[in-house]
Amino acid sequence: MELYLDTSDVAAVKRLARIFPLAGVTTNPSIVAAGKTPVEVLLPQLYDALDGKGRLFAQVMANTAEGMVADAHKLRAIIPDLVVKVPVTAEGLAAIKCLKAEGIPTLGTAVYGAGQGLLSALAGAEYVAPYVNRVDAQGGDGIQTVNDLQRLLSLHAPGAKVLAASFKTPRQALECLLAGCESITLPLDVAQQFIAAPAVDAAIAKFEQDWQTAFGRTSI
Ligand code: E4P
Repeated sequence: MELYLDTSDVAAVKRLARIFPLAGVTTNPSIVAAGKTPVEVLLPQLYDALDGKGRLFAQVMANTAEGMVADAHKLRAIIPDLVVKVPVTAEGLAAIKCLKAEGIPTLGTAVYGAGQGLLSALAGAEYVAPYVNRVDAQGGDGIQTVNDLQRLLSLHAPGAKVLAASFKTPRQALECLLAGCESITLPLDVAQQFIAAPAVDAAIAKFEQDWQTAFGRTSI
């Protein structure tokens, strides 16, 4: 599977790349805007933070297919092997088809429905990103959407991968992996929750206390 961080925090990427088997970093316009660093500066920094070994994802801003294709070229001029995120609208689908014809890899984003996601894969997207928590937040079932999308892709677009996105809890991410997702992207807080549970700290403190009581030290 591929594990990505969904962030523009360069220092955090450096820190977590040491700990997690990271496949790369995803961003979206809000994530980039939050860090206030323009993409031409940020993307090379993220690339370096991954030691040049990870895959980067950045999103187009235009609303027309022509504009999206032009944005894709601008982003790829910054990072040549970048995956271009394209919202799955009517214009976005046309842009994905053009970019596929040019050999530029894309991710269909802002996916709230399994059928919407399937269309982006059929248009040529390499990845499809369903928004799990946002679907839940509007009264839908994010995990069911992922399950349906995963099955649709395996039946009808086996070359495309679900890259599940928009998580608020580790459980949501695990449910996606159990549904068979080959890739997920986690915000920093959710990624850290996998290893920073208070019960873990308490268990380790108890081991030290028992060792100290028996041997008068906490080392081997
Ligand atoms: C990924 O493609 C999305 O941009 C991102 O995961 C959305 O996450 P959010 O719903 O937490 O903003």
